Parts: sequence; C-alpha cells; structure tokens
Amino acid sequence: MPTLETTVNGLKFSNPFVIGSGPPGTNANVIGKAFDEGWGGVICKTISLDASKVVNVQPRYARLRSRESGEIIGWENIELISDRGFDAWMDEFKEIKDKHPEGVLIASIMEEYNRDAWHEIVERCQAAGCDAFELNMSCPHGLPERKMGAAMGENPDILHEVCGWVMEVAKKPVWTKLTPNVTHIEDPTRAALRAGGEGISAINTIRSVLGVDLETLRPEPTVEGYTTPGGYSCQAIKPIALRMCMEIAKVIRAEFPGRTLSGIGGIETGNDAAQFILLGCDTVQVCTGVMKFGYPLVKSMKEQLLAFMEKHKFERLEEFRGHSLQYFTTHADLVRRQAEARAARKARHDRQNMIKSDEEWKGDDFVDQTDALSRG
Ligand SMILES: Cc1cc2nc3c(=O)[nH]c(=O)nc-3n(C[C@H](O)[C@H](O)[C@H](O)COP(=O)(O)O)c2cc1C
Repeated sequence: MPTLETTVNGLKFSNPFVIGSGPPGTNANVIGKAFDEGWGGVICKTISLDASKVVNVQPRYARLRSRESGEIIGWENIELISDRGFDAWMDEFKEIKDKHPEGVLIASIMEEYNRDAWHEIVERCQAAGCDAFELNMSCPHGLPERKMGAAMGENPDILHEVCGWVMEVAKKPVWTKLTPNVTHIEDPTRAALRAGGEGISAINTIRSVLGVDLETLRPEPTVEGYTTPGGYSCQAIKPIALRMCMEIAKVIRAEFPGRTLSGIGGIETGNDAAQFILLGCDTVQVCTGVMKFGYPLVKSMKEQLLAFMEKHKFERLEEFRGHSLQYFTTHADLVRRQAEARAARKARHDRQNMIKSDEEWKGDDFVDQTDALSRG
C-alpha cells in the first residue's frame, strides 16, 4: 500500500497537499477546517506588520468560464494581502498549533524594503509557533506600488538581499515564492537559493486582464467603472506553472541539491499533483481549487494520487519525484532523435521486405519488396 507521507526540509507532511496562500488560509477558523479535512499543510494568507495600509475593493475577482461546459477555468483577482491585524494573527498561530500540532503551518510574509521590518516579522512569527516561512516576493498587483511583492521578486539583486536578511534570523525553513512575470525564472531561483533559502514555491499569479464587458465597454473586474491588471490563476495557468517548475527543478538538481520545490498553479486533482511531482515538486499547493470546490477536495486528490501510485507500483512520492525531467531536451535534439528513429524504422522495414529468393515475392507487399531491393 503506497503512502503519501513525505518529509520536506525536515517538516513531516501527512500528504503533499498544501493550502496555497490566499482566501482558503485567511484566519484560524478556515485553517482549522483545512486541517480537519486532511490537508498536509496550510500556508496562511500573506501577512505584514502593518495591516492598516491594506485596503481591498469589491468586486475583486473575475472568472473565465469554458464556453462548452460553463466550468470556471481562469480566475483573475485584484485582492491584496491580509487586511487583518498582525497581533490577531500571532494569537491565531498559537491557537492553530495548539489544536493541530501535527499540521504544518507555514507563515506567508511580506514586508517593505527594510531589514529591521523583515527581522521583526520573522522573529515574531517563529515565536508564535509557525513551522516554516514562505516569502511572498510575487504578488503582482497593489503591493508593487509600495515596492513590495513582485517588485522585489522581479529583481534578482533585491530578492537576494531581502532573502539574506530573512536568513540572518530565521530558525525555521524558508521557501521563497516566485512571480512568473519574469522572462527567465532561473534567475530569481538562483538569487533566493544563493541567499540560503531552503526552498522555492512557484508560481504566483500571472499578470492579466480577464476581459472587457461588451455592453459597458469597461474592463473586468470593474470597480466604479475602472480596473487594474490583476493576477491570473486556476486550470488555465497549469501549463505555464508546469514549465516553470520544470525549469526551477532543473536548476535545483544541478546547482542546489537538497533544496526543495513547492508546485502551484491550477492544481485541482490528484493527477494534476502527480504531474507536478513528476517534474520535481516536493509538495503541491492549491488555492483557487479550494475556492471552487471547498476543503473536502483534498480527499479526492489523495485518492487519485494514491491510485496513480498503485498503478505504477510506486510506494513513496520520492520514487517518482522528478522522473519526467529526463525527457526534456532541446528542439535540435528532437530533430536529431526523429531523424535517427526514422532511419532505424526504414532499415527495419527494408529488412522485413528484403526477399532472399523468388519464392518470397508476395502480391500484397510487391511494391515494398521492390523498394527494398532498389537503391534511391
Ligand atoms: C483570491 C486570491 C488571493 C491570493 N492571495 C495570495 C496571497 O495573499 N499571497 C500569496 O502568496 N499568493 C496569493 N494568491 C496566489 C495563490 O497562492 C497561487 O499562487 C495562485 O493563485 C496559483 O495557484 P492556484 O491556481 O491554485 O490558485 C492568491 C490567489 C487568489 C486566487
């Protein structure tokens, strides 16, 4: 019987399914619900020391539906980080860890470009009992205007410096959550890992404009007639997330062995999770999927991942983690491989059709047999 248990950066997860930072981890009440339903870990909604600067608007979501089935496949949000006070969050961390000591609670944190502020937030969160950190260097809207979130993640030098500040005081594992809104995801990966961080989380949302209302001619989501580009998530981003995780996993394996990767982006099923693990992820995170289907989603995800493992006779996640990375190569290599395979097929075909005596001529294969005996 396979097991989903896994240890990542010394943290024991009962399964690799982790609630991604966002509404599904927005207070102690819902985080408790997530652990009750069987999620292996929860990353809280991103917190900062001064929540008074966080002012949200409504509506702040816009959704793209499949034309055929009506299912939500893409989701844009212009939501900011948590607007809840930092002290309340610290009380809730203690409460959650008292009730769910075995659940992995990861603090998603974000601060301004200020070393003391980063030191303070890390020290207070670990004193309140969180098990690990995720540095939000990736929110694409609202916060970059204050030089936070993606404004840091898009600049490898700043990312390296800020991760370094965190590592000066962190006593718990640190994952850095990267923005996909860069040309080469390898650059911020190296910057975060060179600073000493234990892992990478990827991806955060993709900067997007969901659509334009053809009645009002206003872009969506429309707030008092206006909008601002937001972050795109859900099934539609999975191919981009898989590509980026593959690229990050390759950097980790070649240059930072032992560091870890938490895959995020459109994951809704156990089969989705299997694909991220095959491309090198240690854990997988789900945010929009929980907003679509609720916390019990984890049960079907676990069952489907276990069924995949049984089918392939894998006992542990480690046995197939990164297995499919070996099948990525350059386009030039694909051309070379195809030419070789075609030549081998032709040679096999010719061998099969090559007659050794006139007895072997067959009416059905006559043309092929003639070809096999011809040059050019
Ligand atoms: C409504 C909403 C709010 C989010 N808030 C945060 C946040 O506070 N911090 C963060 O790091 N990521 C946040 N995210 C990004 C998700 O954690 C995740 O990286 C992204 O949505 C892709 O995964 P998904 O397709 O499973 O949602 C948010 C996403 C959504 C949809």
